[in-house]
Amino acid sequence: MPKDNEFSPQNITQDQKAIFSCDAEVFRKDFTKLPFMLNHSFVDSQLFTLPRLARAAEQLIEQGRGHRFMARQGQNDIGAGWGAMPTVKQVAKAIESIGEQNSWMKVSALNEADPEYVEFLDAATQQIEDMLGRPFRENITHAQMTAFISSPGVAAPYHIDHEENFLCQVYGEKEVCVYDPSSRENLPDNEIERFYFGKIDAAQYRKDMDHHGKVFHLTPGTAVHHPSLAGHWVKNGDQPSVSVSLVFCTKQIDRRAYTYQSNFLLRKMGLRQKTPGTSPHWDGLKANAIHAISKRNPQSYQELIFSGPSRIKAPARLAKRLIKGAPPAN
Ligand SMILES: [Fe+2]
Repeated sequence: MPKDNEFSPQNITQDQKAIFSCDAEVFRKDFTKLPFMLNHSFVDSQLFTLPRLARAAEQLIEQGRGHRFMARQGQNDIGAGWGAMPTVKQVAKAIESIGEQNSWMKVSALNEADPEYVEFLDAATQQIEDMLGRPFRENITHAQMTAFISSPGVAAPYHIDHEENFLCQVYGEKEVCVYDPSSRENLPDNEIERFYFGKIDAAQYRKDMDHHGKVFHLTPGTAVHHPSLAGHWVKNGDQPSVSVSLVFCTKQIDRRAYTYQSNFLLRKMGLRQKTPGTSPHWDGLKANAIHAISKRNPQSYQELIFSGPSRIKAPARLAKRLIKGAPPAN
């Protein structure tokens, strides 16, 4: 993994009252375009201690949202490895094991667990808009806060995400390498199209990309912004790590996703497609076509971005089941 192009933050200003602090010019210029580092002030917040995060996971399970909690130990899902253990006990077990090797747990959508997290996310969103000095909130289609709790040395391989992300380190250290999302050389259109049609590992890491990424060393109180579709990998230091990620979907990136989904279908029909952005008129028509078949009032990120492709794929899935003689899924 590349190390010779490590990036150090410059001119970061400290403001303990603010949730985030960052060089204002960098923030305005690079937000949603390029990765950059910033500081955050919630290392000592009671909202992000291990017992509080465990309680949030339990709250989600109690509310029937157990799918928001995921844990793994070694190479296995905890659900598989620990058999019949109730999910609430898995939370306690996952937290206990975090000092051991290869434990990993994720509590998604903390803001669905408890109004305190909603309040926090709202304050952070307002501050992002204030730092930007232009409207941001009105463009948000989905906002979410997720906690990652993992063992020393645990790594996340190179991948892309749809959302605009602020990955904030609360405990322990990690290295995050982020690539320029605008480089179609690193990330070709066909990989993005496949990603948006449901292949989450479509983005491929290639050896010749080694020196194209910026490595950010995160310590408690620091954060990195990585824009939508910026390829990245993550590696923990030699202590357990707790990170919190604040992610945002916006009207702009959602419509670009729908354009990519249309392009995936048109390319399947043998029609060559231009990179979204080069022909705004056609991009708009293609985005409208997918938006028209997507779920009207999406209740989750999954529904917001992937309900269109799911509906397109549904008849093929049904046909496959019928051919195999299995009853159709409800
Ligand atoms: Fe990611």
